[in-house]
Amino acid sequence: MPTTTATLLDTFHDFQPDDQDFLSAVVDGLAAERKSIPSKFFYDEAGSRLFDEICGLAEYYPTRTEMLILEKFKDQMAALAGTHCHLVELGSGSSIKTRTLMQALDRPLGYIPIDISRDHLMQSAQSFSQLFADVPVAAICADYTTAFDLPAIAVGQYVGFYPGSTIGNFTPDEAVVFLQRLKHKLNGGGLLIGVDLIKDTAILNAAYDDARGVTAAFNKNLLVRCNRELGADFELAAFAHRAFYNEAECRIEMHLVSTRAQQVGIADQVFAFAEDETIHTENSYKYSIDGFHTLARRAGLTPVQVWTDPAKLFSVHYLSAG
Ligand code: AVI
Repeated sequence: MPTTTATLLDTFHDFQPDDQDFLSAVVDGLAAERKSIPSKFFYDEAGSRLFDEICGLAEYYPTRTEMLILEKFKDQMAALAGTHCHLVELGSGSSIKTRTLMQALDRPLGYIPIDISRDHLMQSAQSFSQLFADVPVAAICADYTTAFDLPAIAVGQYVGFYPGSTIGNFTPDEAVVFLQRLKHKLNGGGLLIGVDLIKDTAILNAAYDDARGVTAAFNKNLLVRCNRELGADFELAAFAHRAFYNEAECRIEMHLVSTRAQQVGIADQVFAFAEDETIHTENSYKYSIDGFHTLARRAGLTPVQVWTDPAKLFSVHYLSAG
């Protein structure tokens, strides 16, 4: 089947983001005793651009390290994926990683990118099609953390591709539930997943609090979004970025810290902040290899192989869904 724009659009499910979701998540999160806003709301247009910038920072080792691992071991990964696989990418922002993997696969029969952002999805589907004209693309615009359906396949297996250690933005219990659901979708195939490793605290802290302040801008963009989209009146200069490794929980925590006592209005409600009170905006869990294997097994997935870089900063796992 030739890959054309028509093919892309034919298979499109149109996800419509609901503005009400953002409002209720912010209001509920700020009304709680420990204030928080879910990290999935980072990724508006400006947030996605800032995240791309983070991926190129000297301090942010995960992107380039995962890329090196993929480059070095892509043939081993492709051997596990088998001939005629259908590559299912969860969150299709990482086209360079996908290209590296795709080049190594043996006669893949399909590329199925899933993304909540229609623009991101179309971009990656189009640029993929230009490079791999023989591989049919079925783009799915959906929130991959909730419901989506994969197109039926007659030959080959599904291989999920979930790079970037995005799994670390779930709590371990949430990650198990997510992977359990994914396992059923993959219907006996496999999952290639990037997982950031526990390491020296100074390296971790620097990765989430870079010298140029890009991560700080990414974090504060949440407040910019609240002001623009929800009519909130956050005074940006009165909140500071804070990121640190919580060793007991094995996670980076990102917060926005109120630098003084203040009140913030959002949609007819007023939220009081004490000085130094924080809004918890993100967790990024780090795992040991054994720790991640235990988590994968809890989800019913079987660890088959793991690859790391020489400094053991990052890992890529192949898990069987069979
Ligand atoms: C998308 N996710 C895997 C990133 C991470 O490292 O947890 C998000 C991020 N937050 C700050 N820097 C990068």
